[in-house]
Parts: sequence; C-alpha cells; structure tokens
Amino acid sequence: MTDAVTTARLLVRPPEEPDRARFVELFQDEEFMAFAPSVLTAEQAEARFDHMADVCRTIPFGKQPVVERATGRVVGYTGVDHIEIDGRDWLEWGYRFVPEARGHGYATEASAALLEHARRTYTGELLAIIDPENGPSKRVARKLGFAFWTQTTIDGDRCDLYTLTLE
Ligand SMILES: CC(C)(COP(=O)(O)OP(=O)(O)OC[C@H]1O[C@@H](n2cnc3c(N)ncnc32)[C@H](O)[C@@H]1OP(=O)(O)O)[C@@H](O)C(=O)NCCC(=O)NCCS
Repeated sequence: MTDAVTTARLLVRPPEEPDRARFVELFQDEEFMAFAPSVLTAEQAEARFDHMADVCRTIPFGKQPVVERATGRVVGYTGVDHIEIDGRDWLEWGYRFVPEARGHGYATEASAALLEHARRTYTGELLAIIDPENGPSKRVARKLGFAFWTQTTIDGDRCDLYTLTLE
C-alpha cells in the first residue's frame, strides 16, 4: 500500500479486488450516482470497477476509494479519469460520496490530499465537469483550487467546466 494517502479521518488508496462488491453496488445506487447521467447496470458497474483499477495502475491519482478510518468503510472515491472533449484529451477530476458521508468535509479532505500526491508526479491541467445546479460540488472544486473556465454541453447536458493547473 505504498500509494496510500492518509489524512486525519480518511485513507485514499488504489482499488483492491475486495472493493469490487462495494463499488458494483454503489454504481447501481440512485443516491450515490446523484448528478451522474444515470445509474449503471450490474454489467456496466463491473466494467467501471475494472476501468477504475486499470487507470490507477498507470496514474497514482486515478479515481480511487476513500476509506473512513474510524469505520474501515469505503465511503466514496476521488481522483481522475481520462476524458476526451472536442478532440482534446483531459484528466478529469471527480468525486462521489455515499449520502451518509456527505457534509463532513470528506470530499475536500480526501481530494486535497490526493491532489498533493498528484503534484509530485504530474504537471499540467486538470478538468472538472460540474452540473451548474450542483452547489456542493462547485464548492468543493473551488476549495481545491479549481477555477470556472466555461460552460458547455456534453451528451445533451449543460455543464460547467473548471480547470486547475498543477505547476
Ligand atoms: C459533491 C460531494 C462529493 C461533496 O461531498 P462532501 O464530502 O459533502 O463535500 P464537503 O463537505 O467537503 O464540502 C461540501 C461543501 O458544499 C457546501 N454545500 C453543501 N450544500 C450546498 C448547496 N446546496 N449549495 C452550495 N454549497 C453547498 C458545504 O457547505 C461545503 O462547503 P463548506 O465546507 O465551505 O461549508 C457530495 O455531495 C456527493 O457525493 N454528491 C453526489 C455526487 C456528486 O455530485 N459528485 C460530483 C459530481 S461533479
């Protein structure tokens, strides 16, 4: 677990096979998937977990589990995935937490710690894609240092794009 990042309350670490069942359940859960285009089917959820693990094999700050240290429970994820927008490849930062773990500052705490980890190996821009109605996510992005860039439409949905440059 050399890649693990520890904060006062959280452990942020690459996915492991025992996490699969938890994420496959969460990716099919309406509340967990709030502000996502849709929940995933069981098959898509399995593929999403495989993809998360694949990305983390090459990027130390890929989307990865956030574990609540007090309970040992996986309460969400934070990190990047690859995305192509208008022919340009980006690293897109995203986070998602179970409803009972929201409102405690976990998204900010976990993401800030993983961002510090990212700074050691990566320089360049990061993108965040946020529904204009998603107040908490905008708040987290701004606290992490992301700045509003532009508004666009992705798959028919209006969304705000934020960027952060790691020097
Ligand atoms: C977005 C999300 C990850 C935030 O997680 P969290 O752990 O609750 O976030 P934090 O507690 O670190 O910060 C939330 C911030 O939003 C603020 N906030 C809460 N509700 C808000 C609202 N309706 N409008 C504006 N800001 C709001 C909080 O006050 C807090 O800011 P503060 O620390 O300055 O007070 C979580 O709500 C979630 O998983 N939502 C569903 C999935 C999702 O939307 N993911 C992002 C997709 S772009």
